[in-house]
Amino acid sequence: MQPAGATASADLARDPASLRDALVAREPRAAADPALVRVVHAPGRVNLIGEHTDYNLGFVLPVAIDLGISVALVPTDDGRAELTLAETGETGSFDATDPGPRRGTWLDYVAGMAWALGSAGIAPRGFRGLLASDLPQGAGLSSSAAIEVVSAWALTGGDRPPLDAMDLVHVVQRSENGYIGLNNGIMDQFASIFGEPGRALLLDCRSLDHRSIPLPLGDVALVACHSGSTHRLEASAYNERRAQCEAAVAAIASVEPSVRSLRDVDPAMLERHRDRLDPVAWRRARHVVDEDERVLDAIAAFEAGDLETVGRLFYASQASLRDLYEVSSPELDALVEIAAGIPGVIGARLTGAGFGGCTINLVRRDAVGALRDAVLRDYPGRTGLTPRVFPVEASAGAGRLA
Ligand code: GLA
Repeated sequence: MQPAGATASADLARDPASLRDALVAREPRAAADPALVRVVHAPGRVNLIGEHTDYNLGFVLPVAIDLGISVALVPTDDGRAELTLAETGETGSFDATDPGPRRGTWLDYVAGMAWALGSAGIAPRGFRGLLASDLPQGAGLSSSAAIEVVSAWALTGGDRPPLDAMDLVHVVQRSENGYIGLNNGIMDQFASIFGEPGRALLLDCRSLDHRSIPLPLGDVALVACHSGSTHRLEASAYNERRAQCEAAVAAIASVEPSVRSLRDVDPAMLERHRDRLDPVAWRRARHVVDEDERVLDAIAAFEAGDLETVGRLFYASQASLRDLYEVSSPELDALVEIAAGIPGVIGARLTGAGFGGCTINLVRRDAVGALRDAVLRDYPGRTGLTPRVFPVEASAGAGRLA
């Protein structure tokens, strides 16, 4: 197929009828019976606050966003999953019932989902599909979860896989942990599946209790700033943080046997046992314990309509991710510093795993232009990189569009 390019792919991602027509134009099975074509979509996310807390069984507060991945597909009974990327024209395929080992390409996210569905007792179906995306990759906006989640729908004929929604979150996580090899938590998959327009999603990653929180944004916008450095979410750096948290838990649990995760540790307990922890493990734990409190404080502030307090919590989270968890980068720090100097910016912090990718900013709508101008003017000189600034809206989770 002729590559459509990034802009046309982004347009197709937002236009289910055109994406269906594009599949019908290139796929004989879809042309033979266009009524069989389905269009499914899964969004990316920004996390408002609660970073690196999910795998420590704490709290997260993501929102699904109005950028994501769409797939037009025709289900087949031949067991072969075949997907073409609208942007590049590249096609990949595999046997859905026997996806084989990882290949080291984007197709792994689809194959991993087939593998995880199969291990959950759900036989994946074949399909021929066309994928379009307006979600930047490697930007810390969960493009991995979005392709996994949309693949789960595609591999079950275009319908929601027959699982309880939270069980599905865990199956998607399993594809990432067990097939891709990133030992991540459940926040991204949860947000992509549970998203609600205009609302953030509070998840207690220990009890799995969750509720959506109306965002009283009024004249305030959520604005993402992309650093232009793709986050190298190297499994190694991420998995290392996780291991350091586990080391902190082990050290505390040796004297406080009821402690199973950092969720069981409060600031006073952590200080009591500071001498038992090596300094790195202490810094990691300190971030996580404080960040959990910041999530709860942010919920209270959102519910009180007190966005100034939410903004202060954003800045405190960023400082902690920079100094204690050490997952920020000079580029992300520069974006936050530039934003902090603009009147009307209420708060700014990195979102997602860090190491690159995006910041999320709470910005008065009449200051969005000033933020964009300042970032486009000052950031390239400080970093040598080209940033992008774009508002995002809290949006619905994955589902069938047509
Ligand atoms: C990535 C992971 C999530 C979470 C965040 C950090 O997005 O996929 O599970 O750990 O990093 O909060």
